[in-house]
Amino acid sequence: MDIVYLNGEYLPLAEAKVSVLDRGFLFGDGVYEVIPAYAGRLFRLEDHIQRLNNSLNGIRLPLNYTVSDWEAIFLPLLDGGKDQYIYLQITRGYSPKRDHGFPQQTRPTIFAMCSDILPFAGRINGIRAITMDDTRWQLCHIKAITLLGNILLRQEALDQGCAEAILVKNGQAIEGAASNLFAVVDGILLTPPKTNDILPGITRDVILELAKKHGIAHREDLISLEALHAASEIWVASSTREIVPVVELDGVSVGDGQPGPVWHAMDQLLQAYKKSLS
Ligand code: PDD
Repeated sequence: MDIVYLNGEYLPLAEAKVSVLDRGFLFGDGVYEVIPAYAGRLFRLEDHIQRLNNSLNGIRLPLNYTVSDWEAIFLPLLDGGKDQYIYLQITRGYSPKRDHGFPQQTRPTIFAMCSDILPFAGRINGIRAITMDDTRWQLCHIKAITLLGNILLRQEALDQGCAEAILVKNGQAIEGAASNLFAVVDGILLTPPKTNDILPGITRDVILELAKKHGIAHREDLISLEALHAASEIWVASSTREIVPVVELDGVSVGDGQPGPVWHAMDQLLQAYKKSLS
C-alpha cells in the first residue's frame, strides 16, 4: 500500500493529502467500494462498478467513468500474486465554505488504495454473533462512507466477545454490521431480499448464483428473528471475509455449534469459482 491513487496521481501514501474542508471529512458526504483482487485479477469488477454508480446516483454525484477507466486506475495499485482488495472512496470534494447544501461547483475527491486480504480465522472456525436493533438510517443500499451506525453496532458486538452484530429491523434479521446474512431454515438457504434496508452485497449475489447453478435449495425471503434463532446454519458474507459461519448466536449454539454442511459445500464452491477466474 506504499503507493495510492488520489485525484489523477499516484503518490506515496504519506504524501496523499486532502483538505480539512473536504466534504468527506466534514460531513461524511461520499461513497465507497471494496473490490477484491485474487492473484492480480479484480473480482466481479463490473458488478462493483454498477453498485458504485448506483451509490453515486443515490447521493446525486454521478461520474462519467467506464469500467475500463476504473480498471486502468486500479491495476497499477495491485501487486500480482497476492489476495488483495481495492478500497475506493469518492467524496463531494473540497468546498471553501462549510454548508450542508451542495456546493455550486463540485470537484469530487477520488481516492484508491490497495491492501492485502488477511486470512480471517473465523471463516474456518466460525464466529459468535449477537442480534441488535438496526439503528442505522433508511438508505442502507447506498454504500456511504457515513458508517457511524455500523461502527457502533460492530464495536458493541466486539465488546461482547462477538465478531459480528446481526441487525434486526421490524422483527426481521436483515444483515450484519458489515456483511450480508444467510440462514438455513428447514433445509432451505434463505437471504433477505434486496431493499433499501440492506447493502446489495456482491458476495451475496455470487452465493445465490452458485446455489442456483449447483441445485442448493434457496430463496430470497425475510428471516424473522424467531426463524433465525431456529436456523440450523447462519452465515455472514462479505468481500474481504467471504462466507463466515456463525456458530453461536446470542449465547446459544447454532445447530451443533460447528460450521454446517451447507456452509462447507458453499465455501468449496466459492473457492473453486475464485480459482476458475484466475
Ligand atoms: N462491507 N452489508 C454491509 C453493511 C457491508 O458493509 C458489506 C461489506 C456487505 C457485503 O458486501 P460485499 O459482499 O459486496 O462485500 C453487506 C465491506 C467489506 C466494508 O465495508 O469493508
